[in-house]
Amino acid sequence: MKALVLSGGAGTRLRPITHTSAKQLVPVANKAVLFYGLESIAAAGVTEVGMIVGDTADEIREAVGDGSRFGLRVTYIPQERPLGLAHAVIVARDFLGDDDFVMYLGDNFIVGGITDLVDEFRRTRPDAQILLTRVPDPRAFGVAELDSAGQVVGLEEKPREPKSDLALVGVYLFTPAVHEAVRAVRPSFRGELEITHAIQWLIDAGADVRSTIIKGYWKDTGNVVDMLEVNRTVLEGLERRIDGEVDDASETVGRVIVEAGARVVNSRVVGPVVIGAGTEVRDSYVGPFTSVAENCRITDSELEFSIVLRDSSIDGVGRIENSLIGRHVEVTPAPGVPSAHRLVLGDHSKVQIHT
Ligand code: G1P
Repeated sequence: MKALVLSGGAGTRLRPITHTSAKQLVPVANKAVLFYGLESIAAAGVTEVGMIVGDTADEIREAVGDGSRFGLRVTYIPQERPLGLAHAVIVARDFLGDDDFVMYLGDNFIVGGITDLVDEFRRTRPDAQILLTRVPDPRAFGVAELDSAGQVVGLEEKPREPKSDLALVGVYLFTPAVHEAVRAVRPSFRGELEITHAIQWLIDAGADVRSTIIKGYWKDTGNVVDMLEVNRTVLEGLERRIDGEVDDASETVGRVIVEAGARVVNSRVVGPVVIGAGTEVRDSYVGPFTSVAENCRITDSELEFSIVLRDSSIDGVGRIENSLIGRHVEVTPAPGVPSAHRLVLGDHSKVQIHT
């Protein structure tokens, strides 16, 4: 069995964070979403990975390399334009050969991994197996309709009026039966060859398509609240580990990770929190459900339920909560007079100011 991991696409929904970075590399608890996926694939006993890459190919290659540190062998497969998930399967035809494969969308996050699922597929070997999860607004997804016996009867891509709240999760298990299906479908309203339509084609052709409903799922719908939530869930599962420096004037409470090379000086850190390598927290409070990435400076400030990406600084600004702060960002106080906010915000930024 092989894996096909999709790491192309533009990531418009997580702007501005994804203006300058691949959406699959957005970190959750200081680790790229894509890495959790690769670890899940390795844990399920699959080692041959085809990685579909697009405009952000260089960045993905730099992050993943040959895959050996995940115990994987990664082959890069360029997709010249994001023409759809079924198109990605067509492009990967030579790599996939006649093997079964798990297709994993690199921007999807599945709590608990995929080992049970892959095992079940290997045992029962239907033509295809899909994963579903209940979501509040299914219109941003592929949506499945099940009959009273739980059998999938219909799939629709981004329906305006969804027939259920069961969204297609971005992990699919296929036998080589899918290759005929991906060649049969025509471009959708968004100009893509949809895997959703290929699976519908399999259903219409009488193939055995099974589904499993899962919990613990996140994808980049552009909703920062969701991202903070998935960060929270992952942080809750971490074990306390202090590899960096914490001075005597500081206190760390509960599940706190201070990576090697990080420093906590005269501060209070209440977990679950992760502080990345090379980051300094000084004269500050960092509260629960916060991830601060590498090489940041948090000085004379309070931070809670937030994500700060690498190389950013927050200095002397009081309390920040419920926030997602990108890379190379500087947050500083404005001069006292005149009393005004001074902002340099990138495209698609969102700021809430306390007045
Ligand atoms: C794709 C699929 C959709 C699925 C989603 C899961 O959507 O087309 O059916 O629900 O992934 O991440 P896209 O990310 O291309 O909008």
